[in-house]
Amino acid sequence: MKEHQKLILEAHKSHDQVKNEVQKSHWRLNYHVSPPAYWMNDPNGFCVYNGEYHLFYQHHPFSPEWGPMYWGHVKSKDLAFWEEQPIALAPSEEYDRDGCFSGSAIEKDGKLYLMYTGNVWTGDNHDTDLKQVQCLAVSTDGLTFEKLKDNPVIEKAPDGDIHPYHFRDPKVWKHGDFYYCVLGSRTNDHQGQVLLYRSSDLINWEYINVLAKGEVGFSFMWECPDLFHLDGQDVLVMSPQGVKPKGYLYHNLHQAGYLLGKLDYEKGTLEHGDFHLLDYGFDFYAPQTTLDDQGRRILIAWMAMWESEMPEQKNQWAGAMTIPRELKIEGETIIQRPVLELQKLRKDEVHYENVELNGELELEGIQGDSFELEMVIDAKKASQFGLKLRVNEELQEETVLTYNRDEGFFIFNRDHSGKGPKGERKAPVVLKDNQLRLQIFVDKSSVEVFINEGEKVMTGRIYPSEKSTGVLLFANGPVEIVQLKKWGLKNCIN
Ligand code: FRU
Repeated sequence: MKEHQKLILEAHKSHDQVKNEVQKSHWRLNYHVSPPAYWMNDPNGFCVYNGEYHLFYQHHPFSPEWGPMYWGHVKSKDLAFWEEQPIALAPSEEYDRDGCFSGSAIEKDGKLYLMYTGNVWTGDNHDTDLKQVQCLAVSTDGLTFEKLKDNPVIEKAPDGDIHPYHFRDPKVWKHGDFYYCVLGSRTNDHQGQVLLYRSSDLINWEYINVLAKGEVGFSFMWECPDLFHLDGQDVLVMSPQGVKPKGYLYHNLHQAGYLLGKLDYEKGTLEHGDFHLLDYGFDFYAPQTTLDDQGRRILIAWMAMWESEMPEQKNQWAGAMTIPRELKIEGETIIQRPVLELQKLRKDEVHYENVELNGELELEGIQGDSFELEMVIDAKKASQFGLKLRVNEELQEETVLTYNRDEGFFIFNRDHSGKGPKGERKAPVVLKDNQLRLQIFVDKSSVEVFINEGEKVMTGRIYPSEKSTGVLLFANGPVEIVQLKKWGLKNCIN
């Protein structure tokens, strides 16, 4: 048996040993993709192949910590229900010995190609002692993958002011007669940048140019770039590392955001505007998108953050994906909305209209640890209002979402959420017709808030006790809950 297959078998055996223990974790998510056991980070190879959505992910199948990377795999017919698949890639070759790092997928001649970074440590210091090359694996059934004999297909970083070793995360797409890919990079003195390549066959790659580069001092590396055309603009999504906090912005260890602009395919340059965050919460990194058969641009991100405390590790798993979000551009910003198919998960609707609120209010039927809420709130004259989720008064647990009109911020506070990391994040939000619209997805250990129909999104992991299921509405003056709908959500992973 080939080394690749052998490693995959061993990884599955490793899962089997702890799967039961993992299932006992009350933080296990109901409708978010997470690993069957052990560690998950970036989404990889998100694509549509033979009419089904495939999502791969960075995976360490031997412990709940990051380690030599494999590619885990799930697929879905509708982005709502997911099916686990066998592990797709294992670090079996000289050139990817220490990890099959992040990458993407593309269909060519009916086959599914995965383009990924082969990582090798050349010494003990993982910042300086590494070699990264770009590789391909191919599948005819979307289930088992074979690495190409031509690997690595990009053997080293190009000359110029380009760091020779930090060179990773190819995202490939087709435009006209060519395939293109962007790669995460940094300059020799550590400024984040993205490189553009071109190929006619996926195997022979020609370097074109530095597509975009951060300003001096902005960041030290751009990871996981993604480039696509949307609503008349070219969009570069990337994850800059080392951005310093500035006011309410950039308080996570690393950021994930985008530039809007115009790509010149010949010169290989992107003329672009300012950097914007994609998510204003705590746990959102390395997003990747795909274009589906309906022409929608859909994004999924890792719902975690490097170096954050992850209490689920004690139950032998770590990490999850956000729900899939459809992207649109309105004005100069990307709007994100949960894909409509998630409505298939809804059950047990509870519905309220025109509820006056002043102080604190609990509504019958509005509680739980895994649900969706849709709300329209008329702010009237109140200056602060919002809701508390996963509340347990005895245990003094609550996760607080507040709109502060004087400050013009929506605030997500997890100081008293339970176990795990704490803190507060803010997103600038203005009311429309004096109203605030919220769509909130609560899962066993996560909260995603879509504000004003996806203008801003805030995502965070929380680790409350199992018994913390209360929901409280509050306002420091009279407000009107014009509408409130709540649904329980079905389990989505098989
Ligand atoms: C981003 C990242 C990628 C790399 C992968 C390794 O989170 O650091 O740049 O390919 O994770 O797991």
